[in-house]
Amino acid sequence: MRAIRYHQFGCPSDVLQIEKVEMPLFKDNEVLVQMQLRSINPSDLLTIRGRYPSRIKLPAIPGYEGVGVIVDKGTAVTDLLIGQRVLGLGGIWSYTNKGSGGFLQSMQKTGTWQEYVAMNAETIVPVPNEIDGSTAAQLYINPLTAWLMLKYELKLRKGDIFIANACGSAIGRLFAEFALIFGYELIGVTRSDAYDESLNQLGVKKVINTAKVPLVETLLAYTRGRKVTAALDAVGGKDGVELAHCVQEGGTMLLYGLLSGEQHPHNIHAFLSSSIKIKNYRLRDWVLTTPLKQRISIFLDMIDHFVRYQISLPSGPIFDLAEIKKAVESAELLDRTGKVLLSG
Ligand SMILES: NC(=O)c1ccc[n+]([C@@H]2O[C@H](COP(=O)([O-])OP(=O)(O)OC[C@H]3O[C@@H](n4cnc5c(N)ncnc54)[C@H](OP(=O)(O)O)[C@@H]3O)[C@@H](O)[C@H]2O)c1
Repeated sequence: MRAIRYHQFGCPSDVLQIEKVEMPLFKDNEVLVQMQLRSINPSDLLTIRGRYPSRIKLPAIPGYEGVGVIVDKGTAVTDLLIGQRVLGLGGIWSYTNKGSGGFLQSMQKTGTWQEYVAMNAETIVPVPNEIDGSTAAQLYINPLTAWLMLKYELKLRKGDIFIANACGSAIGRLFAEFALIFGYELIGVTRSDAYDESLNQLGVKKVINTAKVPLVETLLAYTRGRKVTAALDAVGGKDGVELAHCVQEGGTMLLYGLLSGEQHPHNIHAFLSSSIKIKNYRLRDWVLTTPLKQRISIFLDMIDHFVRYQISLPSGPIFDLAEIKKAVESAELLDRTGKVLLSG
């Protein structure tokens, strides 16, 4: 079968190649999933570039999420059917339930950018028919991270205002969708006017383009002098510090991305009131510390809201696995309408 692999870290379009590899063998408690669509996320590209070398054994097959169909299953798998469309809830990881409460036990073994993947049946979630393929392919990393931060981590109340930078991103649009569900107000921060219309359509009343106007002054003019309850920083560096200045006393800022490639200054607290809480947030940490049953239950609840509120996630261009170089180049382009997906 075909798989995308890299044998050294580097620029994705240079190091990724399509190769023939053995079909995966599946155990009694596993299903064999034929992948249909996978997303290309910033985390995939950073991993390929070598951001986390200690976690990855080379050669490696990338891909942290994707949707596929069960084409075969082990003898111990009784509650999943061949032909069922499924997502692996980190299904490419291995788990144990013995005495550990189902905590994740090992590092990533293999990724979704291949034709077939063997997945532990306990980590599989069926995808409801109402959810289209593009949405299903990107339903895990960004939606779950946004859901967890907004529903559990920030402890916002109805009517609270929060602010998020890089808000035209896929996860930024999810903040907008979920803000409507929970009754929070989102103020979006961007660095161009390109996302104004789509964010407005998702109910974001105020979008601040920092290429044109100063952030804190514009926010305070809009809120009549009130800072916000929480901030979500995907950028880092000086933009992250500026975002922190929008947060009120006792408020929280979550650092969940580093799109600028610049770390936050170590003394970020020195610029702020000591009552503002600044925390890192990583989906991976939640996966590593949350029992499997609880993770599945939260994921199913989120999927249920996707169906109930008819949330769909648009895709950008879709490329076959054989076009991997074009696909990753497209994923790194600035001007896109949605996630670049891989088919085949
Ligand atoms: N912590 C976690 O567990 C977790 C989970 C999911 C996602 N994330 C992070 O969330 C971030 C967004 O992911 P995504 O998949 O939603 O991204 P995406 O859809 O690929 O969008 C990237 C967006 O970032 C903006 N951007 C890029 N560089 C920027 C910079 N230096 N300053 C300001 N804006 C910049 C782009 O805006 P332009 O159009 O203006 O270029 C674009 O809107 C990534 O950093 C990702 O790693 C973290």
